[in-house]
Amino acid sequence: MPTSEIIAPALPRNCTFAESDWRALAPFWYPIAFSREVTDKPFATKLLDERLVVFRANGKLTVARDLCLHRGAPLSSGWVEGGEIVCGYHGFRYNSEGQCVCIPAHPGAAIPPKLKVQIFPVQERYGLIWTRLVDNGPSPFPEFNSWDDANYLQVLPDSVELNASAGRQIEGFLDVSHFAFVHVGTFGELDNREVPSYPVELTPGGFRADYISTVSNYSTAFKHLNPPGFKWRRLFETWLPFTAKLTVFFPNDGQLHILNAASPVSARQTRVFVPICRNFDKDAPLQPTLDFNHQVFAEDKAIVEQQFPEDLPINLQDEVHIRADKSSITYRQGLAKLGLGRTFTA
Ligand code: FES
Ligand SMILES: [Fe+2]
Repeated sequence: MPTSEIIAPALPRNCTFAESDWRALAPFWYPIAFSREVTDKPFATKLLDERLVVFRANGKLTVARDLCLHRGAPLSSGWVEGGEIVCGYHGFRYNSEGQCVCIPAHPGAAIPPKLKVQIFPVQERYGLIWTRLVDNGPSPFPEFNSWDDANYLQVLPDSVELNASAGRQIEGFLDVSHFAFVHVGTFGELDNREVPSYPVELTPGGFRADYISTVSNYSTAFKHLNPPGFKWRRLFETWLPFTAKLTVFFPNDGQLHILNAASPVSARQTRVFVPICRNFDKDAPLQPTLDFNHQVFAEDKAIVEQQFPEDLPINLQDEVHIRADKSSITYRQGLAKLGLGRTFTA
């Protein structure tokens, strides 16, 4: 097909992203729900301002545009029956390919093939449902193999809802110079602020930063467990645009893996999913881990919701950078290569 005939998908109505940003972001995979949220009851959600409905019909997982083509009712207010989703307004039924297969008011009438709602690719991984709005070929999928490893304990905390952009959130997750300020209530150490230099290298999906310091990952009440002189290694791996994984190397070969998958609901609304795995304390009660994680993310939320401009500046001239910001400089450069930020937003 000549390229002039390829029609770019229309942007969602009331899209909060600049058009070039939306087109750059739409082909990537994002989590849109917990697996546990999606049953045979339609589940409504939103990604990049696109309203989506997610449901399981006869065991098949489907992500569709949450819009009945008849009179604009959301399919998520309908129900699932016989492997099909039924609109609650006039009962149109759509199969898992999105094709309308029944118009109850005219049972014998032919149904035009174009009466078809848009269906999106779907993957269920790490306790989450993932989708992408534009399928333009292979796209790197974030790796979190310990989720399926019996040597690890898997924990799925509640998601974190932010009135902030996904770019600002991820950059905060990669930031190593804020521990002694923002996280003194959890694991930060007031008297341990200096950031040693660290290497950053590019990877197929983004980059990795290997940060070694003496800031222990123990919470304030357990700092005494820190073996004197122990070097704490924190390995950050990113999959652009909005997913990062942190591996914290504990004493005695302990490893803690945290996936930070930020789902851009809109340009300034983000739902962060944080599956966690660890190969130690596997029989310990989970609540302290959930509480600790919740508090760390609450500390970050207080900052990220105040940052201005709300959008992450992609042009490096627009904010000041220090040596400790090597990760975030690389991050902004990576986003620029994706085509983001032509209009100062991400
Ligand atoms: S709006 Fe869905 S059937 Fe009429
Ligand atoms: Fe933080």
